[in-house]
Amino acid sequence: MSDQAQKPFSFKLLKTDGAARRGEITTPHGVVRTPAFMPVGTQATVKAMYPQQVRDLGADVILGNTYHLMLRPTAERVAKLGGLHHFMNWPHAILTDSGGFQVMSLAQLRKMSEEGVSFRSHHDGSKHMMSPERSIEIQGLLGSDIQMQLDQCIALPAERSEIEEAMNLSLRWADRSRTQFEKMGGPGKGQALYGIVQGGDNPELRVESAQRLGEMPFEGYSVGGLAVGEPQEVMLRMLEVTTPVMPVHKPRYLMGVGTPEDILESVARGIDQFDCVMPTRAGRHGLAYTRFGKVNLKNARHAEDPRPLDEEADCPATRDYSRAYLHHLVRVNEGLAAMLLTWNNLAYYQFLMQGIRDAIEAGTFEDFRQKTKEDWARGDL
Ligand code: GUN
Repeated sequence: MSDQAQKPFSFKLLKTDGAARRGEITTPHGVVRTPAFMPVGTQATVKAMYPQQVRDLGADVILGNTYHLMLRPTAERVAKLGGLHHFMNWPHAILTDSGGFQVMSLAQLRKMSEEGVSFRSHHDGSKHMMSPERSIEIQGLLGSDIQMQLDQCIALPAERSEIEEAMNLSLRWADRSRTQFEKMGGPGKGQALYGIVQGGDNPELRVESAQRLGEMPFEGYSVGGLAVGEPQEVMLRMLEVTTPVMPVHKPRYLMGVGTPEDILESVARGIDQFDCVMPTRAGRHGLAYTRFGKVNLKNARHAEDPRPLDEEADCPATRDYSRAYLHHLVRVNEGLAAMLLTWNNLAYYQFLMQGIRDAIEAGTFEDFRQKTKEDWARGDL
């Protein structure tokens, strides 16, 4: 389907079970079943995976990064080559992050101002300016279906005044991002722009941020600034105060989260979309996620274990290779280790999401949540 597809962006809330929600996002590049986990494809690739493999696991949408792609190969080059979907051979939905978060964690010599953030590339030291307008322009050139406003995310713990300042700046940037998005014709192309709730670990600021953002016309709303150094219970508490004041009929996306448990607990608090490097990054470091918790394949105890990670799984990486072999591949640092373990991990994450969606539809989410946590607690045998 072309980027000019007429199907507008929409969100349908299909079913609720407690605070958990089952929904469907329609984009120009297909339907996204929610709750959804979006594999991270920072550099126009989900590392160590073929696009078709990612799709076959059940991913409806992946995430790309403005910051990385603006530096290499540049958004202009991607646009010239037909847009990000075509460039990377992923004809399904793509969400792009705005770049603010990555500038803060990766770029050098950053300078924040009302206008935006100027920085030097971590590759070659070249100078760049990221403003709300430039971020939307880049995301438009990439042609992503779901775009993010530029925001300021700060590490926790932080002073209240610092959190409030970042929240207010993010709200002003939300407004400028929206203006630019409309100027570029985003809504007419069926694209979406999400605003981002900030407010650190302060419940009042979280509520204020969500309410003021909710008054602005976004297609969806993200919760940012979490999983940045605070304990899990603080993150969950922030969700408990934030999601009840977010628009009911718009998708809610918790950025950069998380572990399988974070996801399960956040769904229970009304979140619809997630992304995290955890399954892909852990896969490149010898760590497997399974129904019965994490398995560290570097560990010598697997050296002569003929069992697969999970003989009942559908994913060949999970079912058809012994732990002894995976251990060997990890130990000798073979590329296939990263490929198989990433495949396994993304398969597990998508299996979890399918289980969550089925349970909400059946009205049995609470049972599913308990049972899943019991299985994790049982541990890897
Ligand atoms: N990824 C994880 N957290 C955040 C956040 O607060 N803002 C943005 N833009 N991206 C994120």
